[in-house]
Amino acid sequence: MATTTIMLKLIVLYVAINVVSMTIVTAEKGKVGAPMFIFGDSTMDVGTNNYLPNSTSRADHPYNGIDFADSKPTGRFSNGKNAADQLAKLLGNYKASPPPFLSFLKQNQTYFNRTILRGANFASGGSGVFNQTGSALFKQVISMEDQIKQFATYRSNITQLLGSQKAVDALLRKSIYIISVGGNDLVEYAMFHRGQIGDPKQLIFNLTKVYSIHLTNLYNLGARKFGIIGVPPIGCCPASRGFNATGGCYEAMNDNARSFYKSLATLLSDSALMYKDFKYSLGNSYEMAMNVIDNPRGNRFKEVKTACCGSGNFKGEGDCVTGASLCNNRDDYLFWDKVHPTQKVSQLAALTLVYGEGSEYVTPMNFSSLAMT
Ligand SMILES: *[C@@H]1O[C@H](CO)[C@@H](O)[C@H](O)[C@H]1NC(C)=O
Ligand SMILES: *[C@@H]1O[C@H](CO)[C@@H](O)[C@H](O)[C@H]1NC(C)=O
Ligand SMILES: *[C@@H]1O[C@H](CO)[C@@H](O)[C@H](O)[C@H]1NC(C)=O
Ligand SMILES: *[C@@H]1O[C@H](CO)[C@@H](O)[C@H](O)[C@H]1NC(C)=O
Ligand SMILES: *[C@@H]1O[C@H](CO)[C@@H](O)[C@H](O)[C@H]1NC(C)=O
Ligand SMILES: *[C@@H]1O[C@H](CO)[C@@H](O)[C@H](O)[C@H]1NC(C)=O
Ligand SMILES: *[C@@H]1O[C@H](CO)[C@@H](O)[C@H](O)[C@H]1NC(C)=O
Ligand SMILES: *[C@@H]1O[C@H](CO)[C@@H](O)[C@H](O)[C@H]1NC(C)=O
Repeated sequence: MATTTIMLKLIVLYVAINVVSMTIVTAEKGKVGAPMFIFGDSTMDVGTNNYLPNSTSRADHPYNGIDFADSKPTGRFSNGKNAADQLAKLLGNYKASPPPFLSFLKQNQTYFNRTILRGANFASGGSGVFNQTGSALFKQVISMEDQIKQFATYRSNITQLLGSQKAVDALLRKSIYIISVGGNDLVEYAMFHRGQIGDPKQLIFNLTKVYSIHLTNLYNLGARKFGIIGVPPIGCCPASRGFNATGGCYEAMNDNARSFYKSLATLLSDSALMYKDFKYSLGNSYEMAMNVIDNPRGNRFKEVKTACCGSGNFKGEGDCVTGASLCNNRDDYLFWDKVHPTQKVSQLAALTLVYGEGSEYVTPMNFSSLAMT
Protein backbone atom coordinates (compact mmCIF):
# COMPACT_ATOMS: atom_id res chain seq x y z
CA MET A 1 0.00 0.00 0.00
CA ALA A 2 2.71 2.42 1.06
CA THR A 3 4.82 1.42 -1.91
CA THR A 4 1.93 2.04 -4.30
CA THR A 5 1.42 5.53 -2.87
CA ILE A 6 5.07 6.35 -3.26
CA MET A 7 5.07 5.00 -6.79
CA LEU A 8 1.97 7.00 -7.57
CA LYS A 9 3.59 10.12 -6.19
CA LEU A 10 6.68 9.45 -8.23
CA ILE A 11 4.60 9.03 -11.36
CA VAL A 12 2.74 12.26 -10.64
CA LEU A 13 6.01 14.02 -10.00
CA TYR A 14 7.50 12.59 -13.16
CA VAL A 15 4.51 13.67 -15.24
CA ALA A 16 4.61 17.12 -13.67
CA ILE A 17 8.30 17.54 -14.48
CA ASN A 18 7.71 16.32 -17.98
CA VAL A 19 4.88 18.78 -18.54
CA VAL A 20 6.96 21.65 -17.21
CA SER A 21 9.99 20.82 -19.31
CA MET A 22 7.80 20.29 -22.36
CA THR A 23 6.22 23.71 -21.88
CA ILE A 24 9.64 25.30 -21.62
CA VAL A 25 10.86 23.55 -24.74
CA THR A 26 7.73 24.54 -26.63
CA ALA A 27 8.01 28.15 -25.48
CA GLU A 28 11.62 28.31 -26.62
CA LYS A 29 10.81 26.66 -29.90
CA GLY A 30 7.97 29.09 -30.42
CA LYS A 31 10.23 32.00 -29.65
CA VAL A 32 13.27 31.45 -31.83
CA GLY A 33 12.75 31.43 -35.55
CA ALA A 34 14.09 29.34 -38.39
CA PRO A 35 17.86 28.96 -38.74
CA MET A 36 19.80 31.82 -40.28
CA PHE A 37 22.81 31.63 -42.53
CA ILE A 38 24.88 34.72 -43.04
CA PHE A 39 27.38 35.35 -45.82
CA GLY A 40 29.48 38.29 -46.94
CA ASP A 41 32.03 40.77 -45.66
CA SER A 42 32.85 42.83 -42.56
CA THR A 43 29.33 44.27 -42.44
CA MET A 44 28.25 40.79 -41.26
CA ASP A 45 31.42 39.20 -39.78
CA VAL A 46 30.95 38.25 -36.11
CA GLY A 47 34.41 36.80 -35.58
CA THR A 48 35.22 34.54 -38.54
CA ASN A 49 38.50 36.32 -39.15
CA ASN A 50 39.62 35.73 -35.54
CA TYR A 51 40.22 32.17 -36.75
CA LEU A 52 42.45 33.27 -39.66
CA PRO A 53 45.94 33.69 -38.18
CA ASN A 54 47.35 35.52 -41.20
CA SER A 55 44.44 37.87 -41.85
CA THR A 56 45.07 41.58 -41.39
CA SER A 57 41.32 42.25 -41.70
CA ARG A 58 40.36 41.86 -38.07
CA ALA A 59 38.50 43.56 -35.27
CA ASP A 60 39.46 41.41 -32.28
CA HIS A 61 41.16 44.38 -30.65
CA PRO A 62 40.01 47.55 -28.81
CA TYR A 63 38.19 49.87 -29.28
CA ASN A 64 35.94 47.50 -31.22
CA GLY A 65 33.22 46.14 -28.96
CA ILE A 66 33.59 49.01 -26.51
CA ASP A 67 29.84 49.13 -25.88
CA PHE A 68 29.56 45.45 -25.00
CA ALA A 69 29.56 44.45 -21.34
CA ASP A 70 33.22 44.62 -20.24
CA SER A 71 34.05 46.27 -23.62
CA LYS A 72 35.02 42.96 -25.15
CA PRO A 73 36.26 43.00 -28.75
CA THR A 74 34.65 40.02 -30.49
CA GLY A 75 35.77 40.42 -34.09
CA ARG A 76 32.79 42.60 -35.00
CA PHE A 77 33.79 45.77 -36.85
CA SER A 78 31.59 47.90 -34.61
CA ASN A 79 31.33 49.51 -31.20
CA GLY A 80 28.80 46.79 -30.35
CA LYS A 81 26.40 44.60 -32.29
CA ASN A 82 26.42 44.62 -36.07
CA ALA A 83 23.71 44.13 -38.68
CA ALA A 84 23.95 40.32 -38.52
CA ASP A 85 23.14 40.45 -34.80
CA GLN A 86 20.29 42.89 -35.22
CA LEU A 87 18.73 40.86 -38.03
CA ALA A 88 19.04 37.65 -36.01
CA LYS A 89 17.34 39.37 -33.10
CA LEU A 90 14.44 40.75 -35.12
CA LEU A 91 13.93 37.79 -37.45
CA GLY A 92 14.66 34.88 -35.15
CA ASN A 93 14.45 36.31 -31.64
CA TYR A 94 18.05 35.24 -31.13
CA LYS A 95 20.31 37.20 -28.76
CA ALA A 96 22.88 37.69 -31.50
CA SER A 97 23.99 36.33 -34.84
CA PRO A 98 24.61 32.60 -35.02
CA PRO A 99 28.30 32.01 -34.22
CA PRO A 100 30.99 31.95 -36.90
CA PHE A 101 31.06 28.58 -38.64
CA LEU A 102 34.77 28.35 -37.93
CA SER A 103 34.12 28.56 -34.18
CA PHE A 104 32.12 25.31 -34.29
CA LEU A 105 35.24 23.45 -35.34
CA LYS A 106 36.84 24.27 -31.98
CA GLN A 107 33.85 23.33 -29.82
CA ASN A 108 32.89 20.08 -28.10
CA GLN A 109 30.18 17.82 -29.50
CA THR A 110 27.57 18.85 -26.91
CA TYR A 111 27.80 22.50 -27.84
CA PHE A 112 27.93 21.63 -31.53
CA ASN A 113 24.78 19.49 -31.38
CA ARG A 114 22.89 22.06 -29.36
CA THR A 115 23.84 25.20 -31.26
CA ILE A 116 24.40 24.32 -34.88
CA LEU A 117 20.72 23.93 -35.80
CA ARG A 118 20.25 27.67 -35.24
CA GLY A 119 22.41 28.39 -38.28
CA ALA A 120 25.88 29.73 -38.81
CA ASN A 121 27.68 32.87 -39.86
CA PHE A 122 30.23 32.48 -42.67
CA ALA A 123 30.92 36.17 -43.35
CA SER A 124 34.55 37.23 -43.51
CA GLY A 125 35.76 40.83 -43.30
CA GLY A 126 37.64 41.95 -46.41
CA SER A 127 36.05 39.39 -48.73
CA GLY A 128 34.11 40.10 -51.88
CA VAL A 129 32.04 38.61 -54.65
CA PHE A 130 35.20 37.77 -56.60
CA ASN A 131 37.44 34.97 -55.43
CA GLN A 132 40.55 37.11 -55.26
CA THR A 133 39.07 40.18 -53.54
CA GLY A 134 40.77 40.87 -50.22
CA SER A 135 43.57 38.36 -50.60
CA ALA A 136 46.18 40.93 -51.63
CA LEU A 137 45.10 43.65 -49.20
CA PHE A 138 44.41 41.47 -46.17
CA LYS A 139 46.52 38.33 -46.88
CA GLN A 140 43.83 35.90 -45.71
CA VAL A 141 40.05 36.18 -46.02
CA ILE A 142 37.34 33.64 -46.80
CA SER A 143 35.96 34.28 -50.27
CA MET A 144 32.26 33.90 -51.03
CA GLU A 145 33.08 30.76 -52.95
CA ASP A 146 34.76 29.25 -49.89
CA GLN A 147 31.99 30.50 -47.59
CA ILE A 148 29.53 28.52 -49.70
CA LYS A 149 31.83 25.47 -49.60
CA GLN A 150 31.72 25.76 -45.82
CA PHE A 151 27.94 25.87 -45.99
CA ALA A 152 28.10 22.57 -47.91
CA THR A 153 30.14 21.16 -45.02
CA TYR A 154 27.56 22.52 -42.59
CA ARG A 155 24.90 20.71 -44.59
CA SER A 156 26.72 17.40 -44.33
CA ASN A 157 27.26 17.97 -40.60
CA ILE A 158 23.56 18.50 -39.86
CA THR A 159 22.63 15.58 -42.08
CA GLN A 160 24.46 13.40 -39.57
CA LEU A 161 22.68 15.13 -36.71
CA LEU A 162 19.14 14.99 -38.14
CA GLY A 163 19.55 11.58 -39.68
CA SER A 164 17.57 12.12 -42.87
CA GLN A 165 18.03 14.15 -46.03
CA LYS A 166 14.34 14.99 -45.99
CA ALA A 167 14.60 16.67 -42.58
CA VAL A 168 17.66 18.61 -43.72
CA ASP A 169 15.93 19.81 -46.89
CA ALA A 170 12.90 20.95 -44.88
CA LEU A 171 15.06 22.85 -42.41
CA LEU A 172 17.16 24.56 -45.09
CA ARG A 173 14.09 25.46 -47.12
CA LYS A 174 12.52 27.48 -44.33
CA SER A 175 15.81 29.12 -43.30
CA ILE A 176 16.86 32.64 -44.25
CA TYR A 177 20.06 33.34 -46.14
CA ILE A 178 21.44 36.82 -45.58
CA ILE A 179 24.08 38.06 -48.04
CA SER A 180 25.87 41.40 -47.78
CA VAL A 181 28.83 41.64 -50.14
CA GLY A 182 30.23 43.66 -53.04
CA GLY A 183 31.60 46.75 -51.27
CA ASN A 184 35.15 45.43 -51.18
CA ASP A 185 35.11 44.50 -54.87
CA LEU A 186 34.10 48.05 -55.76
CA VAL A 187 36.61 49.65 -53.38
CA GLU A 188 39.47 47.53 -54.74
CA TYR A 189 38.48 48.35 -58.30
CA ALA A 190 38.58 52.05 -57.45
CA MET A 191 41.95 51.70 -55.71
CA PHE A 192 43.55 49.88 -58.60
CA HIS A 193 41.90 51.93 -61.35
CA ARG A 194 42.32 55.50 -60.17
CA GLY A 195 41.70 57.84 -63.08
CA GLN A 196 40.12 55.32 -65.45
CA ILE A 197 37.15 54.49 -63.26
CA GLY A 198 34.74 56.19 -65.68
CA ASP A 199 33.37 53.15 -67.52
CA PRO A 200 32.91 50.30 -65.07
CA LYS A 201 30.18 48.54 -67.06
CA GLN A 202 32.28 45.45 -67.48
CA LEU A 203 33.06 45.34 -63.78
CA ILE A 204 29.37 45.45 -62.86
CA PHE A 205 28.61 42.83 -65.50
CA ASN A 206 31.32 40.52 -64.15
CA LEU A 207 30.30 41.06 -60.54
CA THR A 208 26.69 40.24 -61.29
CA LYS A 209 27.67 37.13 -63.21
CA VAL A 210 29.77 35.77 -60.34
CA TYR A 211 27.07 36.77 -57.84
CA SER A 212 24.62 34.72 -59.85
CA ILE A 213 26.91 31.67 -59.61
CA HIS A 214 26.96 32.07 -55.82
CA LEU A 215 23.16 32.25 -55.69
CA THR A 216 22.81 29.18 -57.90
CA ASN A 217 25.24 27.22 -55.73
CA LEU A 218 23.31 28.15 -52.58
CA TYR A 219 20.01 27.28 -54.27
CA ASN A 220 21.39 23.89 -55.28
CA LEU A 221 22.39 23.27 -51.66
CA GLY A 222 18.80 23.91 -50.56
CA ALA A 223 18.53 27.66 -49.96
CA ARG A 224 15.22 29.26 -50.98
CA LYS A 225 14.77 32.52 -49.03
CA PHE A 226 17.39 35.13 -49.79
CA GLY A 227 17.74 38.38 -47.85
CA ILE A 228 20.15 40.35 -50.02
CA ILE A 229 21.69 43.64 -49.00
CA GLY A 230 23.17 46.00 -51.59
CA VAL A 231 26.35 48.04 -51.34
CA PRO A 232 26.14 51.21 -49.20
CA PRO A 233 27.43 54.60 -50.42
CA ILE A 234 31.08 53.59 -50.05
CA GLY A 235 32.13 56.93 -51.57
CA CYS A 236 30.78 58.72 -48.47
CA CYS A 237 32.63 56.76 -45.80
CA PRO A 238 35.38 58.67 -43.97
CA ALA A 239 38.08 56.69 -45.82
CA SER A 240 36.75 57.79 -49.23
CA ARG A 241 36.22 61.49 -48.56
CA GLY A 242 39.97 61.98 -48.89
CA PHE A 243 39.62 61.23 -52.61
CA ASN A 244 37.46 64.35 -53.00
CA ALA A 245 39.35 67.65 -52.71
CA THR A 246 36.26 69.35 -51.26
CA GLY A 247 35.66 66.63 -48.67
CA GLY A 248 32.45 65.59 -50.40
CA CYS A 249 31.63 62.02 -51.28
CA TYR A 250 33.76 60.27 -53.90
CA GLU A 251 31.10 60.11 -56.56
CA ALA A 252 32.70 57.53 -58.86
CA MET A 253 32.48 54.93 -56.08
CA ASN A 254 28.89 55.81 -55.31
CA ASP A 255 27.96 55.58 -59.00
CA ASN A 256 29.28 52.02 -59.02
CA ALA A 257 27.37 51.13 -55.86
CA ARG A 258 24.14 52.36 -57.47
CA SER A 259 24.81 50.54 -60.75
CA PHE A 260 25.51 47.33 -58.90
CA TYR A 261 22.24 47.66 -56.99
CA LYS A 262 20.29 48.00 -60.24
CA SER A 263 22.07 45.04 -61.73
CA LEU A 264 21.40 42.93 -58.60
CA ALA A 265 17.71 43.85 -58.74
CA THR A 266 17.51 42.48 -62.28
CA LEU A 267 19.48 39.36 -61.38
CA LEU A 268 17.15 38.62 -58.47
CA SER A 269 13.91 39.12 -60.35
CA ASP A 270 15.27 36.92 -63.16
CA SER A 271 16.29 34.25 -60.64
CA ALA A 272 12.81 34.24 -59.12
CA LEU A 273 11.38 33.51 -62.57
CA MET A 274 13.98 30.89 -63.39
CA TYR A 275 14.15 28.89 -60.15
CA LYS A 276 11.16 27.26 -58.51
CA ASP A 277 10.38 28.62 -55.02
CA PHE A 278 13.20 31.17 -55.16
CA LYS A 279 12.12 34.00 -52.80
CA TYR A 280 14.01 37.15 -52.03
CA SER A 281 14.11 40.58 -50.44
CA LEU A 282 16.57 43.16 -51.69
CA GLY A 283 17.62 45.83 -49.19
CA ASN A 284 18.78 49.18 -50.49
CA SER A 285 21.43 50.14 -47.95
CA TYR A 286 22.61 52.85 -50.34
CA GLU A 287 19.36 54.81 -50.05
CA MET A 288 19.08 54.09 -46.33
CA ALA A 289 22.52 55.57 -45.60
CA MET A 290 22.05 58.47 -48.05
CA ASN A 291 18.85 59.36 -46.25
CA VAL A 292 20.85 59.71 -43.01
CA ILE A 293 23.71 61.61 -44.72
CA ASP A 294 21.33 64.07 -46.38
CA ASN A 295 19.17 64.52 -43.30
CA PRO A 296 21.19 63.80 -40.13
CA ARG A 297 18.96 65.67 -37.72
CA GLY A 298 15.73 64.11 -38.91
CA ASN A 299 17.39 60.76 -38.20
CA ARG A 300 18.75 61.92 -34.82
CA PHE A 301 22.40 61.82 -35.82
CA LYS A 302 24.88 64.63 -35.20
CA GLU A 303 27.92 63.51 -37.18
CA VAL A 304 27.66 61.75 -40.52
CA LYS A 305 31.05 62.53 -42.11
CA THR A 306 33.72 61.96 -39.48
CA ALA A 307 34.17 58.54 -37.85
CA CYS A 308 33.86 58.01 -34.12
CA CYS A 309 37.15 56.13 -33.90
CA GLY A 310 40.30 56.51 -36.00
CA SER A 311 42.83 59.12 -36.99
CA GLY A 312 43.63 61.63 -39.74
CA ASN A 313 41.26 63.51 -41.99
CA PHE A 314 37.63 62.66 -41.06
CA LYS A 315 39.30 59.98 -38.87
CA GLY A 316 39.28 58.14 -42.16
CA GLU A 317 43.00 57.50 -42.56
CA GLY A 318 44.07 55.47 -39.51
CA ASP A 319 42.43 52.34 -38.13
CA CYS A 320 40.44 52.21 -34.91
CA VAL A 321 43.11 50.85 -32.59
CA THR A 322 44.16 51.51 -28.99
CA GLY A 323 45.35 55.10 -28.77
CA ALA A 324 43.29 56.31 -31.73
CA SER A 325 40.91 59.20 -31.17
CA LEU A 326 37.58 57.93 -29.84
CA CYS A 327 34.26 59.77 -29.50
CA ASN A 328 32.05 59.57 -26.42
CA ASN A 329 28.54 59.74 -27.86
CA ARG A 330 28.66 56.79 -30.22
CA ASP A 331 24.93 56.94 -30.95
CA ASP A 332 25.37 60.41 -32.50
CA TYR A 333 27.66 59.01 -35.21
CA LEU A 334 26.90 57.33 -38.51
CA PHE A 335 30.40 55.86 -38.80
CA TRP A 336 32.15 53.84 -36.14
CA ASP A 337 35.49 53.67 -37.96
CA LYS A 338 36.74 54.71 -41.38
CA VAL A 339 34.40 52.32 -43.22
CA HIS A 340 31.94 50.69 -40.81
CA PRO A 341 28.69 51.97 -39.30
CA THR A 342 27.96 52.26 -35.57
CA GLN A 343 25.79 49.80 -33.68
CA LYS A 344 23.02 52.40 -33.71
CA VAL A 345 23.01 52.57 -37.52
CA SER A 346 23.05 48.79 -37.87
CA GLN A 347 20.03 48.65 -35.61
CA LEU A 348 18.12 51.22 -37.66
CA ALA A 349 19.03 49.47 -40.90
CA ALA A 350 17.87 46.11 -39.57
CA LEU A 351 14.56 47.59 -38.40
CA THR A 352 14.01 49.04 -41.86
CA LEU A 353 14.91 45.79 -43.63
CA VAL A 354 12.69 43.67 -41.41
CA TYR A 355 9.64 45.90 -41.01
CA GLY A 356 9.95 48.47 -43.80
CA GLU A 357 6.89 49.47 -45.79
CA GLY A 358 6.97 50.55 -49.43
CA SER A 359 9.68 49.72 -51.94
CA GLU A 360 12.17 52.52 -51.30
CA TYR A 361 14.40 50.59 -48.91
CA VAL A 362 13.42 46.95 -49.33
CA THR A 363 11.79 45.24 -52.28
CA PRO A 364 9.68 43.33 -53.36
CA MET A 365 8.92 42.47 -49.72
CA ASN A 366 10.48 43.19 -46.33
CA PHE A 367 12.47 40.55 -44.45
CA SER A 368 9.63 39.72 -42.07
CA SER A 369 7.38 38.90 -45.02
CA LEU A 370 10.20 36.84 -46.52
CA ALA A 371 10.49 34.88 -43.28
CA MET A 372 6.76 34.14 -43.34
CA THR A 373 6.43 33.08 -47.01
C1 LIG B 1 50.46 32.05 -42.62
O1 LIG B 1 51.67 32.61 -43.09
C2 LIG B 1 52.80 31.80 -42.86
C3 LIG B 1 54.04 32.61 -43.23
O2 LIG B 1 53.87 33.27 -44.47
C4 LIG B 1 52.66 30.53 -43.69
O3 LIG B 1 53.76 29.68 -43.48
C5 LIG B 1 51.38 29.80 -43.25
O4 LIG B 1 51.16 28.67 -44.07
C6 LIG B 1 50.19 30.73 -43.33
N1 LIG B 1 49.05 30.06 -42.73
C7 LIG B 1 47.86 30.00 -43.28
C8 LIG B 1 46.80 29.29 -42.51
O5 LIG B 1 47.61 30.50 -44.37
C1 LIG C 1 31.26 22.20 -24.07
O1 LIG C 1 31.47 23.54 -24.43
C2 LIG C 1 30.59 24.44 -23.78
C3 LIG C 1 30.72 25.81 -24.43
O2 LIG C 1 32.05 26.09 -24.76
C4 LIG C 1 30.91 24.42 -22.28
O3 LIG C 1 30.06 25.33 -21.62
C5 LIG C 1 30.69 23.00 -21.75
O4 LIG C 1 31.08 22.94 -20.41
C6 LIG C 1 31.48 21.99 -22.56
N1 LIG C 1 31.05 20.66 -22.21
C7 LIG C 1 31.88 19.63 -22.08
C8 LIG C 1 31.24 18.31 -21.77
O5 LIG C 1 33.07 19.75 -22.23
C1 LIG D 1 38.63 30.28 -56.13
O1 LIG D 1 39.64 29.91 -55.22
C2 LIG D 1 39.62 28.55 -54.83
C3 LIG D 1 40.71 28.33 -53.82
O2 LIG D 1 40.39 29.01 -52.65
C4 LIG D 1 39.81 27.66 -56.05
O3 LIG D 1 39.69 26.32 -55.65
C5 LIG D 1 38.75 27.98 -57.08
O4 LIG D 1 38.98 27.26 -58.26
C6 LIG D 1 38.74 29.46 -57.41
N1 LIG D 1 37.60 29.74 -58.26
C7 LIG D 1 37.66 30.50 -59.35
C8 LIG D 1 36.37 30.74 -60.05
O5 LIG D 1 38.68 31.03 -59.72
C1 LIG E 1 31.55 18.27 -40.34
O1 LIG E 1 31.84 17.71 -41.60
C2 LIG E 1 33.20 17.76 -41.97
C3 LIG E 1 33.32 17.29 -43.40
O2 LIG E 1 32.57 16.16 -43.63
C4 LIG E 1 33.99 16.90 -40.99
O3 LIG E 1 35.35 16.97 -41.31
C5 LIG E 1 33.78 17.44 -39.58
O4 LIG E 1 34.41 16.59 -38.65
C6 LIG E 1 32.28 17.49 -39.26
N1 LIG E 1 32.14 18.12 -37.96
C7 LIG E 1 31.37 17.62 -36.99
C8 LIG E 1 31.43 18.30 -35.67
O5 LIG E 1 30.66 16.65 -37.16
C1 LIG F 1 25.72 14.63 -31.23
O1 LIG F 1 24.90 14.15 -32.29
C2 LIG F 1 25.40 12.97 -32.90
C3 LIG F 1 24.53 12.64 -34.10
O2 LIG F 1 23.18 12.57 -33.74
C4 LIG F 1 25.40 11.84 -31.88
O3 LIG F 1 25.94 10.68 -32.48
C5 LIG F 1 26.27 12.25 -30.70
O4 LIG F 1 26.21 11.28 -29.69
C6 LIG F 1 25.82 13.58 -30.12
N1 LIG F 1 26.79 13.99 -29.13
C7 LIG F 1 26.44 14.61 -27.99
C8 LIG F 1 27.56 14.88 -27.03
O5 LIG F 1 25.31 14.99 -27.76
C1 LIG G 1 35.49 40.88 -66.76
O1 LIG G 1 35.66 39.53 -67.13
C2 LIG G 1 36.35 39.36 -68.35
C3 LIG G 1 36.29 37.90 -68.71
O2 LIG G 1 36.61 37.06 -67.63
C4 LIG G 1 37.79 39.88 -68.18
O3 LIG G 1 38.51 39.73 -69.36
C5 LIG G 1 37.73 41.34 -67.77
O4 LIG G 1 39.05 41.82 -67.48
C6 LIG G 1 36.86 41.54 -66.55
N1 LIG G 1 36.74 42.97 -66.34
C7 LIG G 1 36.60 43.52 -65.14
C8 LIG G 1 36.56 45.00 -65.09
O5 LIG G 1 36.47 42.85 -64.14
C1 LIG H 1 33.21 66.08 -54.52
O1 LIG H 1 32.08 66.49 -53.76
C2 LIG H 1 31.23 67.42 -54.41
C3 LIG H 1 30.11 67.75 -53.47
O2 LIG H 1 30.60 68.20 -52.26
C4 LIG H 1 30.71 66.86 -55.70
O3 LIG H 1 29.96 67.84 -56.38
C5 LIG H 1 31.87 66.39 -56.58
O4 LIG H 1 31.36 65.73 -57.72
C6 LIG H 1 32.75 65.44 -55.80
N1 LIG H 1 33.94 65.10 -56.61
C7 LIG H 1 34.34 63.84 -56.81
C8 LIG H 1 35.62 63.67 -57.55
O5 LIG H 1 33.72 62.85 -56.45
C1 LIG I 1 6.18 44.20 -44.54
O1 LIG I 1 5.74 44.02 -45.85
C2 LIG I 1 4.42 43.57 -45.97
C3 LIG I 1 4.17 43.23 -47.43
O2 LIG I 1 4.60 44.25 -48.27
C4 LIG I 1 3.49 44.64 -45.46
O3 LIG I 1 2.15 44.21 -45.56
C5 LIG I 1 3.82 44.89 -44.03
O4 LIG I 1 3.04 45.94 -43.54
C6 LIG I 1 5.30 45.25 -43.90
N1 LIG I 1 5.62 45.43 -42.51
C7 LIG I 1 5.61 44.46 -41.61
C8 LIG I 1 5.91 44.86 -40.20
O5 LIG I 1 5.39 43.31 -41.88
